[in-house]
Amino acid sequence: MTTKRLRVLVLVTSTRPHALGPAVGRWLTDALGASADELGVDLVPLSLAELDLPFLDEEEHPSTGVHHHEHSRRWSRLVDGADGFVVVTPEYNFGMPATLKNALDYLSPEWAWKPMGFVSYGHTSAGTRAVQHAKQVVTTLRLVPLGATVALRIADAMRGDRLDPEPRHVHAAQGLLAELVRVAHALAPMRERAHAAAVPGPLPGSYARRLGPDDAPEVTVLQRCCWMEEALANDTLDIPALHESPADVRDWLGDWHAVGLWRDGRLLGMVRTRRTGSDLHVGRLAVAPDLRGLGVGRWLLNQAESTDEGHSRIVLYTGATSDRNLSLYRRQGYVALPDAHEDGVVGLAKAVAA
Ligand SMILES: Cc1cc2nc3c(=O)[nH]c(=O)nc-3n(C[C@H](O)[C@H](O)[C@H](O)COP(=O)(O)O)c2cc1C
Repeated sequence: MTTKRLRVLVLVTSTRPHALGPAVGRWLTDALGASADELGVDLVPLSLAELDLPFLDEEEHPSTGVHHHEHSRRWSRLVDGADGFVVVTPEYNFGMPATLKNALDYLSPEWAWKPMGFVSYGHTSAGTRAVQHAKQVVTTLRLVPLGATVALRIADAMRGDRLDPEPRHVHAAQGLLAELVRVAHALAPMRERAHAAAVPGPLPGSYARRLGPDDAPEVTVLQRCCWMEEALANDTLDIPALHESPADVRDWLGDWHAVGLWRDGRLLGMVRTRRTGSDLHVGRLAVAPDLRGLGVGRWLLNQAESTDEGHSRIVLYTGATSDRNLSLYRRQGYVALPDAHEDGVVGLAKAVAA
């Protein structure tokens, strides 16, 4: 899980000329502006009228992810890049509008494990039957509908021909956004694990993915905890991994190719690599203390070694009295470099077959 900002699409679904929907969408984004900033949310208004999707015209099933038409690809990119949705919907004939059903049907994995909140409007029922209808459909797509809703009775929300909902509706909208943010963060590991770039890890439910600058908080915690043992084993606190601030870590995460092993939003282990000349440098191999002895370190080392950088040698360093590390590296075929014994640090290397 990262601390990055959340991107939330505010989707206005009605497409009729002079529809009320756009006014409801504008009211909502205005009402939520301050809360969105506080919650770290970028609200992205989007109208299905402007998106102008034809009735589903793709040959392949959406679960294949194959989209032949540019309008589908654009819609796919928009939904894929979002962390959650607020759907602004009228009720048409006791159900959701066909435009919303059509827009949902276009895609599949792009929707998965993201929260969806509803702001409905209508006559006596305030659009709530459209929401019930939509909830039943969206769960099939692994969207997670929120319990919090905003339901506007048109007669109560209009002052003359101007939309002016009551303060309780603003309050309800703020509650909806707060719930959406909590659910979006809780679901982040599910989204990541389902993502094509995530590689299944060695422990059940674990997955590996490239680490980026936004992962600096978790990486800082893991390395402080792991290198404390190194400090004890080598009787020194003069170890960079113990002193680096989250800002330092953010910097090197931008420069190195680092891979993290995750499960349920927790960073379990990591390793980083970088090529210098004909050498591939491997470093910061770390495994959370409660997961030692399960083959995680060896698995991460193998991941690092399989980085194809066109190098002829892999080089790594560890504390001269870090017996556990030294024994892993020797078992993996590394031999000590004769000239790298300095400041209690030992260098090891392994040749790579051309
Ligand atoms: C095709 C159609 C069906 C409607 N069905 C319902 C309905 O089932 N329940 C309801 O409360 N209002 C219904 N209405 C009235 C809408 O709530 C009202 O017209 C609203 O402004 C529609 O949203 P829009 O202006 O964004 O399209 C319906 C309106 C249309 C155009």
